[in-house]
Amino acid sequence: MKEFTFTKYEEAVKTLRNNDLMQALYDEGEVIMDKVLVCLHGEEHKQRRKLENKIFTRDTFKLYEDKIFPKTIEETLEPFKRTGKLDLVDFGFRVLLNLTADFSGIDRPEKSEGETEMLLGMLKTFASGATLAHSTRDHDEVKLEVKKALEEFDVRFLGPSIETRKLLINNNDDPNDLPKDILTILLLNEDKLSLPHDVLMREVAFYLLAGAQTSIHSLVHAFHEIMEWLNKYPDEKNNIYKNPIFLQRCVHESTRLHPSSPVAWRKPICPVSLPNDQDAKEGDKVIIDLYNSNRDKEIFGKDAREFNPKRKTPDGQNIYGLSFGLGMHSCIGRNLAAGIVAKEDTDPNNHQYGTVTMIMRVLLSYNALPNPDDSPKMDEKTKRPNWGYYPILIDAAG
Ligand code: HEM
Repeated sequence: MKEFTFTKYEEAVKTLRNNDLMQALYDEGEVIMDKVLVCLHGEEHKQRRKLENKIFTRDTFKLYEDKIFPKTIEETLEPFKRTGKLDLVDFGFRVLLNLTADFSGIDRPEKSEGETEMLLGMLKTFASGATLAHSTRDHDEVKLEVKKALEEFDVRFLGPSIETRKLLINNNDDPNDLPKDILTILLLNEDKLSLPHDVLMREVAFYLLAGAQTSIHSLVHAFHEIMEWLNKYPDEKNNIYKNPIFLQRCVHESTRLHPSSPVAWRKPICPVSLPNDQDAKEGDKVIIDLYNSNRDKEIFGKDAREFNPKRKTPDGQNIYGLSFGLGMHSCIGRNLAAGIVAKEDTDPNNHQYGTVTMIMRVLLSYNALPNPDDSPKMDEKTKRPNWGYYPILIDAAG
């Protein structure tokens, strides 16, 4: 078996767009990822993506940004206002869990603290299974934990959510009156997709993960970069606190430097030509290094490794680089997490900012700052460069 790694931006773009390469990152994590969207290929992938894409519309995003999410952020922040202290990683998990549960179609009838804790625990266990390839823990132990969590998830959350939706589907002639979530779409198209129950369960669990886990890490990295930058350039305070479009730009710049998935892995489905006149065949492994490609000086300039929200966007490229992937598996939830890239004439009062910038705006409105008496720590349970603990202080008076 040969291994090919691409660390330059242009090579990464070509490789991500090559449809003779299929997903390989989650082969180790099949306990939670087997047959979920990001692991499918060809016609099967196209069909499921087309169906699920139906709920990723501008109208749905607008509904979330205008109505649902502001309330969720404030509600989740409420208990922390009393102490003025919080761990941004833990808070991120809680706040994004609510959003992704709605989006995935997982009801939480009790809306109690215990119920949230339980779902949060499951989400963390699913996450450890999905990123097993990067885990420093005993892999068999993790797989057993994931299987148990999936069983509990099925009984406690998925089963009741399916029942509710089946009732709604049977009693409703107009699909517009049905919930706008992944589970409903999958149930409505059960005949076309013929998904066995275990695949349906993993697909919904994967959405919980894909929606929450990635955005959490983007949020904490962005907070850290913004605070460090403000220490260096205190005169920029107004720009950060009062100009939400600039704040969104900071989030995008940080997302470029810290892609939630530092690498994409692929495997050839037939003999294939790769950049630099290299040939690969079935059984070989292709690694696309998103982290280093996003720091390619030829594309992003001499200071590519630094956080510079004033960077000029390279011609024809995205300011967040390849952090949301490209090609057939490009992130379906990008606009939900990152919003839309603003133009010169964008109206800040009628703009889609994305969940990460929205949360950041609320935190800054409460004067969130790193806790000087408690240092942040990286997550030691994974080789991925993510924060595991990030203590901050907020001023409840705002
Ligand atoms: C900052 C936040 C996010 C980042 C950095 C991110 C990153 C990515 C990347 C890099 C991929 C491509 C994986 C590959 O090529 O192997 C991807 C795919 C995907 N993402 Fe995201 N994502 C984010 C948020 C979301 C959200 C909010 C959702 C859903 C609610 C979501 C759902 C998905 C799905 C379903 C795929 C698979 C698409 C397919 O295979 O067709 N992501 N994401």
